[in-house]
Amino acid sequence: MDSLLDFSDHVVLVTGAGSGFGRLLAQGLALRGAKLVLSDINEHALTEVRQSLASSCDAITLAGDIALESVNQSLVDAAVNQFGRLDIAVNNAGIAHQPAPVHQMTEDIIDRQFAVNVKGVMFGMKYQIPVMLAQKQGHIMNVSSLAGLGGAPKGAAYAAAKHAVAGVTRTAAVEYGRKNVRVNAICPFYSPTNILNVDGYNTPEAQAQLGMGSPMKRLADPQEIVNTMLLLLSPGNSYMNGQTIAVDGGVTAW
Ligand SMILES: NC(=O)c1ccc[n+]([C@@H]2O[C@H](COP(=O)([O-])OP(=O)(O)OC[C@H]3O[C@@H](n4cnc5c(N)ncnc54)[C@H](O)[C@@H]3O)[C@@H](O)[C@H]2O)c1
Repeated sequence: MDSLLDFSDHVVLVTGAGSGFGRLLAQGLALRGAKLVLSDINEHALTEVRQSLASSCDAITLAGDIALESVNQSLVDAAVNQFGRLDIAVNNAGIAHQPAPVHQMTEDIIDRQFAVNVKGVMFGMKYQIPVMLAQKQGHIMNVSSLAGLGGAPKGAAYAAAKHAVAGVTRTAAVEYGRKNVRVNAICPFYSPTNILNVDGYNTPEAQAQLGMGSPMKRLADPQEIVNTMLLLLSPGNSYMNGQTIAVDGGVTAW
């Protein structure tokens, strides 16, 4: 195995591991030797993911709502109690909302976006960072979105929440860089996972149309996004800090 992608004995926490990017990432990390702490609000999906991993993979699962501070604390406690350390945390769990323009955003939509997509990330970091500081090393990858770097028509609450993820990522990178705890974010363009299973995005025609918004004239396969996650999380990628990496087929090059 190329040592750049060798995660042997690295303890990696992945939220939102029941589906989409999180599921593929868990499987990719398991293949490369990582010890895993996996979480999702969907307990059934989480169990299925655990069963899909080689039995030799050292993995623990813990279901819960990532918007809750206590769930984030429990996840980090589980990593430390089971494996004694936490090398990498991927704060990936996230939700979208029904497409609507800004003037139709409801309080419920805005509150849930910030609860899951922002508090889920910030509470995660709140407990992940002290463990990493004590170890004198760690890497946190937050999953933002291209909607965290620019406007997202009919996705205002999602875009606001994902911009917040970019903001906390950059802030933490500056706060903890000198302690060898690095924080980066990945910002994908649309990719057909369950999150696109909302009206207006869930038909092949709608997704083909979305793909036309990229210079590559197609959406990313979820595995392509996860391959980039693995490259960025590679133990060899050790000087990248505070970046919000667009994986977008060139959208931001326009
Ligand atoms: N797929 C895309 O087009 C796209 C683009 C940019 C960014 N993203 C981001 O990627 C991340 C992963 O999304 P995905 O595309 O794999 O979607 P997905 O819906 O397939 O996976 C998201 C997972 O998060 C879990 N989850 C949702 N709410 C949760 C909560 N409150 N607590 C714990 N777990 C919860 C879901 O059960 C699901 O398993 C999200 O943060 C999303 O915003 C996705």
